[in-house]
Amino acid sequence: MTYPLGLQLRGRKVLVVGGGPVAARRLQALLDDGALVTVIAPYACEDITDAAAAGRVDWQQREYRTADLDGAWLVLAHSGSAEVQDRIAAEAEALCIWCVKGGDSAASAAWVPAVARIDDVTVAVNTNGDPKRAAALRDGVAAALESGELPLRRHRTAEGMGTVALVGGGPADAGLITTRGRRLLAMADVVVADRLGPRSLITGLSADVQVIEVGKLPGHHPVPQEEINRILVEQALLGNRVVRLKGGDPYVLGRGGEEEAYCRDHGVPVEVVPGVTSAISVPAAAGIPVTHRGVAKGFSVITGHEDIRQQTGLIPPGSDHTLILLMGVSLLRSSSASLITGGRKASTPVAIIENGWMESQRVTTGTLETIADLAELRDVKSPAVIVVGNVVALSPHWQPA
Ligand SMILES: C[S@@+](CC[C@H](N)C(=O)[O-])C[C@H]1O[C@@H](n2cnc3c(N)ncnc32)[C@H](O)[C@@H]1O
Repeated sequence: MTYPLGLQLRGRKVLVVGGGPVAARRLQALLDDGALVTVIAPYACEDITDAAAAGRVDWQQREYRTADLDGAWLVLAHSGSAEVQDRIAAEAEALCIWCVKGGDSAASAAWVPAVARIDDVTVAVNTNGDPKRAAALRDGVAAALESGELPLRRHRTAEGMGTVALVGGGPADAGLITTRGRRLLAMADVVVADRLGPRSLITGLSADVQVIEVGKLPGHHPVPQEEINRILVEQALLGNRVVRLKGGDPYVLGRGGEEEAYCRDHGVPVEVVPGVTSAISVPAAAGIPVTHRGVAKGFSVITGHEDIRQQTGLIPPGSDHTLILLMGVSLLRSSSASLITGGRKASTPVAIIENGWMESQRVTTGTLETIADLAELRDVKSPAVIVVGNVVALSPHWQPA
């Protein structure tokens, strides 16, 4: 095993012996870190000769000599000759200079890990002489940091103006948030969270992230919209990176537009990250496509929280146009009656999907004529998406009367 250590190489002499591709790769990383590099090699590949021509490295076109170690803090031996490698390693050891003996991790005093840099984070992986494994692990960690799966959050002192991101979290399953949303969440100082959406991501946040619950949770009253707007701006003005984590998509019956406008009006930089709306994804979880060739050419999403007669006037009444109701459980009886009065057939298939994408997901199917009684019988509760139209009959849950 090796002892992991970060070296500040800026302005310090590093010796590279060898002119091949591995030496060239090492040289580039050393130059990026500001080391003063001398390369000793009778021949060198183009990257090294270019760097020498540009004055970025001192290339001495000859064989290695013991005196080359004078003043060096570190030596990387990639000479290609076992004999020269042994000699460099032994001479460096005698002078207490750390030596990376290329190709021989077991006999090497120091070893270069597989490295990735993401934002201001350095990932370095050592696997005791298995460079492919180290590179694969390095890539995995780097990808997880880039996607936000691992927290890339900076611990900083709040200064200046913060930001607000209105992030659509999708319906409930943590796998249905976008990569961008996930990354912003990983970098957030404050998360203003709804009841719906990927709640498991909130549990996984680090302990010093402030979570402000604004949805209706057991023991919590819902926070009025004006208060949510005020919290977002207040937190951003304190210099925080604020994520407003919303269920589904922020702009689909989600008041995202109001929150965005309020932030802008108060000079707070705001971005909107679209999400997977429950209007489409919750029916999908029950095997209902909102459109289907030969069955439905289009769909409409409306709130079922209000008298739907005012909203359905312009919507095609045929059961080949899918109607999706959000927040429609409490007014289901009057809504289904209105749809029949408005011209839809009483036999139009209807599905109610409660708790979409959760373990407790439950699907109830019926027709416009029967669905209210069935829902009452089964004690259907919010949150639920109600789908009206022939596409419902495509679901494996569909039970014709
Ligand atoms: C205020 S609306 C927000 C909709 C959200 N902006 C979206 O795009 O999904 C809340 C309603 O969305 C529906 N909903 C959201 N998530 C749901 C889920 N996981 N299962 C069932 N219905 C859901 C329910 O109809 C709920 O009453």
